[in-house]
Amino acid sequence: STNVVEVVSIIDSTNTYVKEHLHQLPKGYVCLAEAQTHGRGRRGKTWVSPFGSSIYMSMAWTFKGGYQSMAGLSLLVGIAINRSLKTMGIKDCKLKWPNDVFHNCRKLAGILVEVEGQVGSDASAVIGIGINVDLPNAVSEIDQPFVDLVSITQKPVDRNELVALIILTLTTMLTEFELKGLAPFLSEWREADLFYNEYVYLESGSNRIHGLSKGINEGGALMLENAGKVTPHHGGEISVRKS
Ligand code: BTN
Repeated sequence: STNVVEVVSIIDSTNTYVKEHLHQLPKGYVCLAEAQTHGRGRRGKTWVSPFGSSIYMSMAWTFKGGYQSMAGLSLLVGIAINRSLKTMGIKDCKLKWPNDVFHNCRKLAGILVEVEGQVGSDASAVIGIGINVDLPNAVSEIDQPFVDLVSITQKPVDRNELVALIILTLTTMLTEFELKGLAPFLSEWREADLFYNEYVYLESGSNRIHGLSKGINEGGALMLENAGKVTPHHGGEISVRKS
């Protein structure tokens, strides 16, 4: 298959752009920007998006059969990024449920998947990816430990090569995902799982669920073991238990 790829200099947010034009854009369309003025993260947070030092990209995709077929989509995207980084020689990246890419306990990339559609009909998704490539030292607004690719590799990183690889990898994986769901990718997740077999807690609102992290299931849920019982969890923010 082929992807239409558009590169812009400055935009509010590549996700916002793709979301607003979702129905005119071909499946697999990709928008890339050098900078974003209103980059968006998960949970309404800002994604700091300085000029030329990162990858900001969003892909449009449509799914036959609607929402049900999209469970676990954002996890798939993390696996695709991890696989692409590995191919580029960047090893030891970890995946934090549901969709962060970490390196040495610092955040390297974030994923924001936005879904649109009605139950029972086809659904569309905007798949947003932000990867830190060579952030300026002066970036101080980021509210958690982060790292960029140049710091990891200690040499220049070809953004075009990485983007091309991600587009190819993601498109291929999405096609398989449409047929088989997450099942073919579970072992790859398991290998890169940041918290596997660690005591963690999951926070949603004021609710805190503790447990031993047992990876993910085919629906993309986080499996937590508590008092010998493993249960799936769909929402919330995972953290390592501070004890
Ligand atoms: C997160 O970890 O909170 C998700 C961050 C997602 C950032 C990317 S950058 C490209 C795309 N456009 C946006 O506004 N956000 C996503």
